[in-house]
Amino acid sequence: MTGRRWILPDAKILRSDAVDGSANFGAVDGSATAIGIELCVGGPRASECPDGYRVTMEILEKVMELLDLAKFEIRVMTIDDYEKVYALWMSCKNMGFNNLDDSREGIAKYLMRNPSTCFVAEQGENIVGVILSGHDGRRGLIHHLAVAEDCRRQGIATELLESAVSSLAAEGINKVALLVFNRNGAGNAFWEKNGFTSREDLIYRNKALVEMVRIDT
Ligand SMILES: CC(C)(COP(=O)(O)OP(=O)(O)OC[C@H]1O[C@@H](n2cnc3c(N)ncnc32)[C@H](O)[C@@H]1OP(=O)(O)O)[C@@H](O)C(=O)NCCC(=O)NCCS
Repeated sequence: MTGRRWILPDAKILRSDAVDGSANFGAVDGSATAIGIELCVGGPRASECPDGYRVTMEILEKVMELLDLAKFEIRVMTIDDYEKVYALWMSCKNMGFNNLDDSREGIAKYLMRNPSTCFVAEQGENIVGVILSGHDGRRGLIHHLAVAEDCRRQGIATELLESAVSSLAAEGINKVALLVFNRNGAGNAFWEKNGFTSREDLIYRNKALVEMVRIDT
């Protein structure tokens, strides 16, 4: 399962119309996030586009080059991604790790058991997002969803979640759960938005079977 989308961190350009070998770019809504660029021939001229300005084909080519650099792809995670993924996790606040389950060996064990339900978002050479998910034959569990700080609010986590949830559904799983710290405002807002309700009637209990060191970011 893969997905592609354009990311324009500071673009105000959502639309352009090629006219006479040049192009009119209109800042459609001034949004900080653009998820697409539409090129059409024969659109309105600059005079009819109050917020537009004329650019040369050279500039248009540069924009297309930047767009190309900014696109990301969702793909299944492998253990070769570990170092980049771990660095990404450590850069994110409000997450909980430990020295065993999140070591290279721990993640290798997890990926062996759940080979098709963990995903990364890749942008060029960089990993900008990750989600681990797996199941025990009955319930799906999601762990460690994270997106690089400068790539947030562009739908990357949503796409990672969609990939994880559809891969779990494809394995016959009917319900998915996760844990998130109370203090994690962004995390809880994201899960609420995606329909993950909280259970007030439950107490989460667990017991460590071996000694481990917590790593709270
Ligand atoms: C939580 C996190 C994964 C969201 O990643 P993201 O790629 O920015 O999320 P998306 O762009 O897909 O957001 C989808 C929706 O979730 C909600 N949301 C996401 N981040 C939010 C925030 N900081 N505040 C409020 N709502 C937020 C919004 O409704 C958003 O839609 P919108 O941008 O159209 O308003 C990211 O903030 C992160 O990596 N945080 C640190 C790690 C973490 O807390 N992980 C979750 C713990 S289990």
